[in-house]
Amino acid sequence: MAKPDVIIAPSILASDFARLGEEVAAIEAAGADWVHVDVMDGHFVPNITIGPDVVKALRPHSKLPFDCHLMISPADPYIEAFREAGADYISVHPEAGPHLNRTLKLIRKAGAKAGVVFNPSTDPSVIRWMMDEIDLILVMSINPGFGGQTFMHSQLRKIEALRGMIDAEGRDIPLEVDGGVTPETAKLCIAAGATALVAGTAVFRGGPSAYAANIAALRG
Ligand code: DX5
Ligand code: ZN
Repeated sequence: MAKPDVIIAPSILASDFARLGEEVAAIEAAGADWVHVDVMDGHFVPNITIGPDVVKALRPHSKLPFDCHLMISPADPYIEAFREAGADYISVHPEAGPHLNRTLKLIRKAGAKAGVVFNPSTDPSVIRWMMDEIDLILVMSINPGFGGQTFMHSQLRKIEALRGMIDAEGRDIPLEVDGGVTPETAKLCIAAGATALVAGTAVFRGGPSAYAANIAALRG
């Protein structure tokens, strides 16, 4: 059976924030599958980025699914706003609140797909009893907060473990990796069972004329 194509989700964190609308349109034209939006609050992670109003302003610039990665605590009060702004996937970190299961239900109730994000130290067992309430699993291969960091090879075994959990349940949900993804580390992630790759630096380096080649290089 032919292996399905990996989903490429450029992280606009590495784009030119002064030209965000054009950047989103440019990655769509260059062959991206999703738009990865890194939402940071300066509290859960030591950086501040994008809120729902920016997502709303970007929405008309692309038809691609918006993959919103919330690095905020608490997350629950903002889920509705991100959905209304146009988020298709909304992913949260288990450490962002006391009731992960409740948060995932809120995301689905708002009409979005619910994702769980694993920090490098977070164990896969946190989702063991709620696999059917999850639409996306995101493995951080860096500590969240900044782009341009080095891929942590220790996370490859976690990707394998999560691949095993997804397959054991017969689920067909994307297994996404975020942080330090390059053409070289992309291969390792895919071999470990990843089906979606976030990349900021590796997509946006070189400016718009390089985006198509940069995205193609991640597909291997
Ligand atoms: C970091 C973000 C990542 C980041 C990846 O907290 O979640 O999405 O933008 O950037 P690169 O691909 O440069 O490591
Ligand atoms: Zn991210």
